[in-house]
Amino acid sequence: MSDQPAIEVAGLRKAYRKVRALDGVDLAVPTGSVLGLLGPNGAGKTTVVRILATLLAPDGGTARVDGYDVVGQAPQVRLRIGLTGQYAAVDRFATGRENLEQAGRLHRLGRARSARRAAELLDLLDLVEAADRRVETYSGGMRRRLDLATSLVSRPSVLFLDEPTTGLDPRARLAVWDVTRELAAGGTTVLLTTQYLDEADYLSARIALLDRGRVVAEGTPSELKARLGGARLTIRPVDVADGQRVAAAITEWSRGAPRIDQTNGEVVVAVDPDPGALADALHRVAALDLPVADVEVGRPALDDVFFSLTGPAGSGYASGGAA
Ligand SMILES: Nc1ncnc2c1ncn2[C@@H]1O[C@H](COP(=O)(O)OP(=O)(O)O)[C@@H](O)[C@H]1O
Ligand SMILES: [Mg+2]
Repeated sequence: MSDQPAIEVAGLRKAYRKVRALDGVDLAVPTGSVLGLLGPNGAGKTTVVRILATLLAPDGGTARVDGYDVVGQAPQVRLRIGLTGQYAAVDRFATGRENLEQAGRLHRLGRARSARRAAELLDLLDLVEAADRRVETYSGGMRRRLDLATSLVSRPSVLFLDEPTTGLDPRARLAVWDVTRELAAGGTTVLLTTQYLDEADYLSARIALLDRGRVVAEGTPSELKARLGGARLTIRPVDVADGQRVAAAITEWSRGAPRIDQTNGEVVVAVDPDPGALADALHRVAALDLPVADVEVGRPALDDVFFSLTGPAGSGYASGGAA
C-alpha cells in the first residue's frame, strides 16, 4: 500500500462520566514499526487501545487502522488486528492447543489449517511442552504467552499489546520481548503500552509518553534522551538518611528537582555538561564530609526525561520505573 501510517489517531477524546481519560491524543505509527505508548497507571493507555480495537467508541477525534476508520469501518478494522490485554482471555478448562485451534476455526481457517497454525504458534511462544495440558495448570507467564498466541492466529497486520509483561517474571518477560521483536521484524505493526521505561526503550522505534490523557512527548528513545541534554549525576551516600543533605547541597547545579531514592538514599540530578559546574557540585558534596558509596556521571536516561516532563508528583512512576 502507500506510505500512510498503519495507525493514525487525531484529536482523540474520551470521557467516562467526569473522568477525562483522553484529552486530544494524536499518534501515527508507520507500517511495520513498534510504537511504545508509555505512561503511568491511569494515563489513558488502555482507553486508546480499546478505541483502536473497536471495543469502545470515542467521544471525538478520529482513529484509523490500515486506513479504515475504527467507528465507521469497524468490521474491516477487526479483520486486521490482534489484541492482547493485561488479563489473559483464554478458556482455562481447555488445553493450550485447543484454545488456539478454536481461535483458528473462529477465523474460518478450517480444521487442518487451524491445527497447523496452532502448532506453529505453540512453537513460537515456547509452549510446545505445555500444549496438551489444561490452561488452568499454566503459570501467569504461560497464560499470557497463550493469549498472545491467540491474538496471532489470524496473522494480524496490526497488533495491540496492552501491558503485555505487567506482572510477569523476568524470564516470561524476555520471551514476550523476543516474540514482539520477531513480529515487528516480520512486518507486523505493533502498538505496545507499558509502564516500564526499559521495555519501551528496548522494543520501540518511537515512544509516545502519555500523561493524563495527553501525549506530552514523542520521539525515538534517543531523541527523547537528547531532549534533556546535559549529563546525569548520581551520588549514593553510605547512609540512606544522608540523601536529603546531598540533594540540598547540589540543587544549585540541578536542572529540575533532584530525585532521591528512598530505599538507598541515592540522589540523581540532571546537570549541565560543564566540568567546572560538575566539580563545584562535587566540592559542595565533599564539604558535607559524609561517607559516599558511589559517584557516577553519565548520560540522561529515559526516566530522567519522563520525570522532567511529568514530574514525580501525580505520576505513578517509582524511581527507575521498575515493577
Ligand atoms: N470504565 C471506566 N469507567 C470510569 N472510569 C474509567 C473507566 N476506564 C478507565 N477509567 C479512567 O480513565 C482513566 C484512564 O484509564 P486507562 O485508559 O485504563 O489508563 P491506563 O491503561 O493508562 O492505566 C483513568 O483515570 C481511569 O480511572
Ligand atoms: Mg491499562
